[in-house]
Amino acid sequence: MFSPKAPAVCAPLNAQLAYRTSDIAVNPLPPLSLYVHIPWCVKKCLYCDFNSHPLRDEASPKDYVEALINDLEAHRWQIQDREIQTVFFGGGTPSVFDPSLIGTIIHYVAENFSLSRDAEITLEANPGASDRTKFEGYRKAGVNRLSIGVQTTHDQLLEKLGRVHSGKEATSAISDAKFIFDNINVDLMFALPGQRIDELKTDLSRVFDFSPEHLSIYQLTIEPNTWFHRYPPKLPDDDLASEMQFEIESIAQKYGYTQYEVSAFAKLGRQCSHNLNYWEFGDYVGIGAGAHSKLSDKDGVKRVVKHKQPKRYMDAVSSGNAVVSSEIIAADALPFEFFMNVLRLNGGVSRDLFEKRTALPVGLVDSRLKSLEHRGLLTLSDSVIKTTPMGMRFLNEVLQDFL
Ligand SMILES: C[S@@+](CC[C@H](N)C(=O)[O-])C[C@H]1O[C@@H](n2cnc3c(N)ncnc32)[C@H](O)[C@@H]1O
Ligand code: SF4
Repeated sequence: MFSPKAPAVCAPLNAQLAYRTSDIAVNPLPPLSLYVHIPWCVKKCLYCDFNSHPLRDEASPKDYVEALINDLEAHRWQIQDREIQTVFFGGGTPSVFDPSLIGTIIHYVAENFSLSRDAEITLEANPGASDRTKFEGYRKAGVNRLSIGVQTTHDQLLEKLGRVHSGKEATSAISDAKFIFDNINVDLMFALPGQRIDELKTDLSRVFDFSPEHLSIYQLTIEPNTWFHRYPPKLPDDDLASEMQFEIESIAQKYGYTQYEVSAFAKLGRQCSHNLNYWEFGDYVGIGAGAHSKLSDKDGVKRVVKHKQPKRYMDAVSSGNAVVSSEIIAADALPFEFFMNVLRLNGGVSRDLFEKRTALPVGLVDSRLKSLEHRGLLTLSDSVIKTTPMGMRFLNEVLQDFL
């Protein structure tokens, strides 16, 4: 999605970031989200680098749920009485789990932690690993937002991607979900092997005709450790991929959706609160195999990562420590981490948020911001920092300035 051509890169920022920790203001803690990782799928897709494994008989979903709960308990000292604003069941394919298991987790969180009364609770469901009865079960269990992994509605493209479902099953899943949920996201991908622009357009119109509240659409990337990395398929060239990006934005606008992030489009007021919290550099506890957490406290901003392999993760939880790494983000790295998230947002970010989330004075990055404004990549007002359309195209290069 981003062009490889880079605008000039300025000198590293680090020199300007010398400050004493005692200079850091004490700020209110950011909003808190909970991410729950379910690491199994029916079958591994050829492009997928997520921590997901084919579900075999030896895996016990019930034992995994017990491990998730113990993992969450291990975070109690960090969560304390902070309110959990959103919950996201991601994968993998969470819809391989029976609704009763998802209900056990939601119930546990609601009973034992402070879960916001109007928390957004999302679950990722795959066509081919879910049906209407399951959707009803998830809704009853407390899920109030369903995210359906469609990717494309064209059978021959689905087959090339190694998906387990057909286009018809994908659209039926959206139709079923519409009966049960009033908040739905659809995931699509574009620039697929051999994909034509008319195929992308029909994907968009078929999905938008169901009027989902939200669309996430990602350009296919070839990730290491995937089948596609080993056997690269022929992908649309950069010009066609840019044309596709343009079509996505104009068709979404015609259907009344606003783009609020690089890959996210929503109807009015239907942005994904959970993802917004990531992009606004909020805090989150991640439980499950390979899950990441980001947590702020008086010592700074900490990142925590859990064991990736499901069996290893479950054993590690049983023996009392599922954490593989836990480190405080160095103050010098905080501006990059902050801007990597917030500059993806089309509406920009308030200058205040930088100070709130990093506890660093915004003056520290002012000369970088002004240089990026001068190069047409950002716009700056007294209160808002915003990426220009050109800055969005060159986002990776914009971020280099904060490294
Ligand atoms: C956690 S993943 C998988 C969710 C769900 N299991 C599914 O397959 O629909 C979330 C989304 O990331 C996107 N995605 C995964 N791998 C990708 C890749 N290599 N390039 C671009 N998008 C990708 C897909 O749109 C997918 O729905
Ligand atoms: S794309 Fe989704 S269904 Fe396919 S392997 Fe990855 S997580 Fe599983």
